[in-house]
Amino acid sequence: MCGIAGYVGGAEAAPILVRSLKRLEYRGYDSAGVATIHNKQVFVCKDAGKIDEINKSLGLERLPGCVGIAHTRWATHGAPSKVNAHPHLDCTGRIAVVHNGVIENFLLLRKELIDQNHNIVSKTDTEVVPHLIEEHIKRGLSFEEAFVQALKRLEGSYALAVIFLDQPDTIYVARKEAPLIIGVGEGFNMVASDMTALLDMTRDMVFLHDGDAAVVKADGYRIFRLSDGTQVERMVRRVELTIEMAEKQGHPHYMLKEIFEQPTALRDSLRIQREYVDLLAELLDKGRVIFLLGAGTSHNACVAGSYLFSALARLPSYPVIASEFVANYGGAVGSDTVILAVSQSGETADVLNALEYARMRACTILGLTNTVGSTLTRVSRAYVLQNSGPEIGVAATKTFTSQVLVLAQIALRLARLRGKIAQYEMDEFRQELLKIPNEVEKVLTTASVKMRALAEILVEKPFIFMLGRGVSTSTAYEGRLKVMELSYIPCVAYPSGESKHGPISVIESGVPVIFVVPPDEFRKPNIGNIMEMKARGAYVIVFGDEKDDELRSIADFYYGLPRTHPLLTPITYSIPFQLLAYHLSVLKGYDPDKPRNLAKSVTVP
Ligand code: G6P
Repeated sequence: MCGIAGYVGGAEAAPILVRSLKRLEYRGYDSAGVATIHNKQVFVCKDAGKIDEINKSLGLERLPGCVGIAHTRWATHGAPSKVNAHPHLDCTGRIAVVHNGVIENFLLLRKELIDQNHNIVSKTDTEVVPHLIEEHIKRGLSFEEAFVQALKRLEGSYALAVIFLDQPDTIYVARKEAPLIIGVGEGFNMVASDMTALLDMTRDMVFLHDGDAAVVKADGYRIFRLSDGTQVERMVRRVELTIEMAEKQGHPHYMLKEIFEQPTALRDSLRIQREYVDLLAELLDKGRVIFLLGAGTSHNACVAGSYLFSALARLPSYPVIASEFVANYGGAVGSDTVILAVSQSGETADVLNALEYARMRACTILGLTNTVGSTLTRVSRAYVLQNSGPEIGVAATKTFTSQVLVLAQIALRLARLRGKIAQYEMDEFRQELLKIPNEVEKVLTTASVKMRALAEILVEKPFIFMLGRGVSTSTAYEGRLKVMELSYIPCVAYPSGESKHGPISVIESGVPVIFVVPPDEFRKPNIGNIMEMKARGAYVIVFGDEKDDELRSIADFYYGLPRTHPLLTPITYSIPFQLLAYHLSVLKGYDPDKPRNLAKSVTVP
């Protein structure tokens, strides 16, 4: 999983590309490189490390030329190293390639190419591509034909950008199961894995479809289908995002900016298109079996969604981890199955693989995503966009709370359709939904200071427990993920009731346990669980209602939150967890925007 960019036009390409790479860094950041063409020569500069470091030491942005391609990498095949960094070249050094995705049959292709005396120097899957193109050129094909024929040999996924010394005014691109956008400019054109990499230069964008290839020049581009060469038109869309939206806005880290942006993001998530929410609800209601499918944070949103669907609409649904879907339920799905896939990026390979399987079995696929033009939007029968804006921090924050808010809106629509709860309950819930952005604003006035204090208490702890009941189970799961992925402190989360069936055995004096206890019907049994933990010497931290003095009195550390509808508490109560995770990461000297070993968008299975 990586990010790619390309520029062709009248200006020097390298500085523009380095700026694009910086915006793509969230897609992977273990190595980076740029290739340009100038004065009948291909220039390549690449290395392992972060983009700024490489730029400082090797001068990425000083490469000459008005055409170029660039790459930021998250290693899949071959360790992060200079030789494995992109761009990759053919034997003659005339063809340069950057790639996001995985070439599944690369070992076979590599062997074939080595037998044909190609000099393959890296351990990557990508390097077969320039050599395959070279091989086809040797056989007398034009560059474009060679590019197409080479791509036809590839199995797997790719967004590719290729430059060729003999055509210094052109970038060749193609996509299959990996995102790729053309940025349309005046006197230049660009390509990139996502919108943020283009926004500095243009707002006019063309979202390529799977199986599209394009020949991109400074004054235009031509898109065609890789399968048969048919020329196709794709709409140019004007993207109304501001660059400031993708910058830190005065916060030390993107993550903090995004946490504080939540009231706005949630207001936008209340403005989603009604007709799509209605359509999703209608299709969900038709299913005999319903799965809510996602990975990472999006899976935790699915857990919350499942409680919401059941409580408001009496509609049972299974939240399922995307990578487990086929093994666990594959044999049991069919045309009466409805799958609502939740994915911020809309590009997560585990999600798309599960959907591909389900599609073959005639399941109805629905999507909830933050990414316009993503693969999820194309494989879904109907989808809804959560409207959270770009999220740069690798750890999901605003996109989680927005996902839950959209799922709550779908649940409410389902409730109206199915009529299983009273009208006044629906109306009350709707009122509470509309108030959520303001409640989150209130939480944000106190949470950061309180969580900084808690982080100081927890920073040296070897592990942390998180417990909740009912819908708060999803809050505990999401809290665990946030704190663990940012502080690297191992965390365990369970439904509180389950804690006595095993986890409690590790409790001894001083072990921190965070209870999520909103004022709902589970408050009493939760108090029972708190007492069990206290009796064994645990350090009990409670996130509860700001007016709940009884709870406050039994906790070692208490954080009080404003009252909302209990089913919406995964939104408000996940915020202290986000800030706790952030402060732990900063206290430990880590970079909260780039937790180690992780990437924002995991496009490999
Ligand atoms: C990666 C990210 C997580 C994210 C997950 C699912 O693991 O690091 O933050 O929750 O992918 O991503 P999606 O785009 O499908 O929501």
